[in-house]
Amino acid sequence: MSPTLLTRPELINLHPSPGDVCAAVAQGLARQPRQLPPWLLYDQEGSRLFEAICRQPEYHVTRLEKDLLQRHGSHVGHCCAGRNGAAPLTVVEFGAGGAHKVTPLLHALQPVAYVALDISATHVHRACIGLQTLHPQVSMVAVCCDYGQLPALPDHPLLAGQRLGFFPGSSLGNCSRAGAVALLHHMATLLGPGSLLLIGMDQPQDIAAMEAAYDDAAGVSARFARNLLVRLNRELGANFQPRHFAYQARWDASEQRIEMALVSQREQVVSIPPLETVVPWASGETLVTEHSHKWGAEEVQAIAQEAGWHGVGRWCDGQDRFSLHLMEHGSLSPC
Ligand code: AVJ
Repeated sequence: MSPTLLTRPELINLHPSPGDVCAAVAQGLARQPRQLPPWLLYDQEGSRLFEAICRQPEYHVTRLEKDLLQRHGSHVGHCCAGRNGAAPLTVVEFGAGGAHKVTPLLHALQPVAYVALDISATHVHRACIGLQTLHPQVSMVAVCCDYGQLPALPDHPLLAGQRLGFFPGSSLGNCSRAGAVALLHHMATLLGPGSLLLIGMDQPQDIAAMEAAYDDAAGVSARFARNLLVRLNRELGANFQPRHFAYQARWDASEQRIEMALVSQREQVVSIPPLETVVPWASGETLVTEHSHKWGAEEVQAIAQEAGWHGVGRWCDGQDRFSLHLMEHGSLSPC
């Protein structure tokens, strides 16, 4: 047999410009309370720290989801094949990061192509290069972008087939409920008519367990949040002193979410030169770095339906802590 010649997956880089970063920061600091968009957390160091969070014993999300994908990947595959027939399939992952989760799907679905979207260029490109050696028969491309803002998927031959969107990690929970409806609408537009979407969602559970998951004993979650300030210092010439901000992760029962925030430990003033103004902080004033909403199965179905998606299959762990939802756009018949 002749050795297979692997093409190195290409990177399409559509990262927001420095001007976009600046505008996002200006907008976020004008909110009350101050809150920056989560994609800013994922510079190269942020992506590395997030992977370290995923390995913390307190962070159940990754473990539960990987286990479900391994166990039910073939069921997901059957369900998709039943809807899709023999049409060539392209798997499009939103927020692929290190692409550690998609392997069971690639085995089960045997797609022609895998397209990994992520905000962190180097990270996602390396991930695809690594994954390519394990799946030589699947063509791959990495796209660096803020998928929430992407007007359309790049015009690329690998994106010609029928699409299965893959949105793992409970990342939908970063959005407000209304934001989640809007994002799922947007994904339907990006993926095109008749598409399928597999969403992984963490569900409401024991409060102490949820709070620990977002504030691990080793302090990785805290470092991940503070790295946002380090990034703004580097990219915008700001002078945040990360040690003067404490990290906090709290369950908000009325909003059904973990709120992650940096809390100013003193009265302080931070300069951000491109904003042409200084930013005063009261002692105890917060900068919300992220929300992580936890929605049960019915809530996810309701949100998805508002965006025109219909559930065709759901798989969950024995304790019903985490669900994989398979959705189809614009159809009503279950799998
Ligand atoms: C990537 C948004 C799914 O909400 O669980 C984890 C982000 N931040 N720990 C989550 C996160 C701190 C994560 N998502």
